[in-house]
Amino acid sequence: MKFFIDTANLNEIKEAYDLGVLDGVTTNPSLMAKEGIAGKEKVIAHYKAICDIVDNNVSAEVIATDFEGIIREGKDLARIDDKIVVKVPMIKDGIKAIKKFTSEGIRTNCTLVFSSGQALLAAKAGASYVSPFIGRLDDISQDGLELIGQIRHIYDNYGYGTEVLAASIRHTMHLIKCAEIGADVATCPLKVIMDLLNHPLTDSGLAKFLADHKKANS
Ligand code: G3P
Repeated sequence: MKFFIDTANLNEIKEAYDLGVLDGVTTNPSLMAKEGIAGKEKVIAHYKAICDIVDNNVSAEVIATDFEGIIREGKDLARIDDKIVVKVPMIKDGIKAIKKFTSEGIRTNCTLVFSSGQALLAAKAGASYVSPFIGRLDDISQDGLELIGQIRHIYDNYGYGTEVLAASIRHTMHLIKCAEIGADVATCPLKVIMDLLNHPLTDSGLAKFLADHKKANS
């Protein structure tokens, strides 16, 4: 399973990368705004800075919602670095743009996916990744993890190459269940990745090992 970090914060990206388990980064316009990144030049420089930290797979989202605009913006983003994956919203012109990007060898991540029908369309268009938002579905009392399972099942039925990128992950249980279901990728905040380290029996066990060692060596 690939781990992506869902942030535009350079320090968090570095911290996750330094752990040695990071396979990529996803951003979105809200995450870029949270870091105060605005204006075309700053946006491009920031994506370049992210690409300089990680080895591959940096999702950079277009703002345009019309076909020509998505293509223009997506190509500008793709030119920043080979590591860029153009993130395109699940809308009609987005699907058309994904099809075109795919035919030109530009990798895409179809975002804001909330149904298996949308995921099927994204795969048909040739998206490299599809991003179903688990947490936001849970927020409206729909089972986000069930959607991951449905998409996995459909993609396996037909051997689609589109990777299932579970997004909007809020806690470790989301991530672990996604791994059980067979999501190809999970993108999550730094805290969720770091929370995987924790177990109280690890803490108490280590404390006992160290105490016993100290006793024997004093
Ligand atoms: O980047 C897309 C997605 O992961 C957003 O998550 O927590 O804003 O629902 P969230």
